[in-house]
Amino acid sequence: MASPPGPARLAALLLLALLAGPAASRFAPADNHLIACGATAPAVLPDGRRFVPDSGCASMTLRSAAPALPSAAPGAPAPAPPSPLHAAARVFSCHASYDLAVRRRGRHVLRLHFYPFSPALASACFHVGAGGFLLLHNFTAPSPVVKDFLLPVDADVLVLTFVPEAGSAAFVNAIELFSAPDELVGDIGTLVAAAGVNRTDGLSSQVFETLYRINVAGRKVTPFNDTLWRTWVNDEGFLVSKESSSSKAWSFGGRIAYPKDSRLMTREVAPDNVYNSARSVRSDGNLTWDFPVPARNRYLVRMHFCDIVSKALYQLYFSIYVNGHLAAKDFDISSTTGYLAYPYYIDYVVDVDDEGMLKLAIGGSKMSRPGEASGFLNGLEIMRMNKTGGGMDVDFPAVLDMGYLVSKGFGEFARSLLCGLVFAGLFLVFVMLVLRLRTELKNNGTLWFSQSMDSGDGKLAKAYQLVPTKTDY
Ligand SMILES: *[C@@H]1O[C@H](CO)[C@@H](O)[C@H](O)[C@H]1NC(C)=O
Ligand SMILES: *[C@@H]1O[C@H](CO)[C@@H](O)[C@H](O)[C@H]1NC(C)=O
Ligand SMILES: *[C@@H]1O[C@H](CO)[C@@H](O)[C@H](O)[C@H]1NC(C)=O
Ligand SMILES: *[C@@H]1O[C@H](CO)[C@@H](O)[C@H](O)[C@H]1NC(C)=O
Ligand SMILES: *[C@@H]1O[C@H](CO)[C@@H](O)[C@H](O)[C@H]1NC(C)=O
Repeated sequence: MASPPGPARLAALLLLALLAGPAASRFAPADNHLIACGATAPAVLPDGRRFVPDSGCASMTLRSAAPALPSAAPGAPAPAPPSPLHAAARVFSCHASYDLAVRRRGRHVLRLHFYPFSPALASACFHVGAGGFLLLHNFTAPSPVVKDFLLPVDADVLVLTFVPEAGSAAFVNAIELFSAPDELVGDIGTLVAAAGVNRTDGLSSQVFETLYRINVAGRKVTPFNDTLWRTWVNDEGFLVSKESSSSKAWSFGGRIAYPKDSRLMTREVAPDNVYNSARSVRSDGNLTWDFPVPARNRYLVRMHFCDIVSKALYQLYFSIYVNGHLAAKDFDISSTTGYLAYPYYIDYVVDVDDEGMLKLAIGGSKMSRPGEASGFLNGLEIMRMNKTGGGMDVDFPAVLDMGYLVSKGFGEFARSLLCGLVFAGLFLVFVMLVLRLRTELKNNGTLWFSQSMDSGDGKLAKAYQLVPTKTDY
């Protein structure tokens, strides 16, 4: 009775499959700001993402010729920067803020790209705040760096503020702000201390700064291959005893099995490329990694496990040590997941005091068969948590005004006067650079003082207007 599907129906099915394919495999954040600061044209990354210029703002644009500045003869072609995002920067001589529209409140990933292509940028010292948190304090970027944060956003606008330290400037090359998937960090973790382990909650109101993302025994994972455009690096540089005969590296060609319809364990937590490699240890050994971290901070240590090592369930039992403390004894991954090749992670919270070193270890157990793999690890993330006052490095210094609205007082007036002087100095340097490079300054002289946001750029540009808070003179 059923008629064979006609060509029209087949075409419709094919179209549906095509439409559903990318939607199902790619995470689509509700908020997705990708900004190439100071750029004049959109920058497209190898991972396919398109960063749009932050045009229409009242500050300086450094063009791609700038990286060659110290040595290049006038007219010589500049060497191509490593990333299209590194070709330009936005430089601030005073308090400045980006207002980023937020459609969906909740946790967001914020990445700030710093590529100091001139000595002035490499020595710039400044502070960066967002949503009431002090993310970077007295920060300098002498070499290229991406600062990666996960922060709660509880407003319709996220104000990202740059404050230069006295006599310095602030800069940024690119900004990513996108909605984090709900399952990325839960509210509950396991607090590990000398006294033992305990449950801790309130993680969802924290800011996290990712210091390490490690693909144990695996290849570097680039944003191209990561579901949230992250970078994961190999663990060998942090491994304490590489030559140990009791450890072994594994890689897996099969399929990583994600729980069906699970809201907690998805490919956004970590990509397959992290779960399909691991390092194992036998029952008589330990695998230890050391990570230098800033002292006197609280950390979230996420350990990723996926049993690609065993041939059958219930073969592996191991201990987990966090900062020298026993966090789990004879941990049985099979009972926890119920399947092989099934990803799982544990969030440990730990305080690092004066030693400035975070030690993580996996130890074998006598419950496992001697001579066989006993414990393993696939991936690691180490994230610094904010301090009580809302600062990352330090408690939020009261003197540092990261506020968005300028209060008009004499202090403000004096500060803006000082700012104006620094500003004029920077402007002079800029003019000299322009002359030296003989590049054409396409924008007219009102660039610095322009208050109008370019309406020609439409809605997108409106969403993240740069707000010069102290340049209205
Ligand atoms: C930044 O560091 C300098 C030198 O260490 C210090 O004098 C200054 O007070 C710091 N700035 C803030 C806002 O803490
Ligand atoms: C665990 O936390 C609870 C509540 O904060 C506390 O009463 C208990 O003493 C803690 N246990 C340990 C072993 O620290
Ligand atoms: C992405 O992952 C695949 C498979 O692991 C690998 O062959 C490829 O080189 C990776 N691409 C990039 C750009 O990292
Ligand atoms: C592994 O390390 C832990 C903690 O440092 C230690 O207690 C244990 O004895 C070690 N096991 C072996 C087999 O070296
Ligand atoms: C981080 O900041 C939040 C919000 O200000 C605060 O509730 C939390 O206690 C802070 N974290 C720590 C470890 O103090």
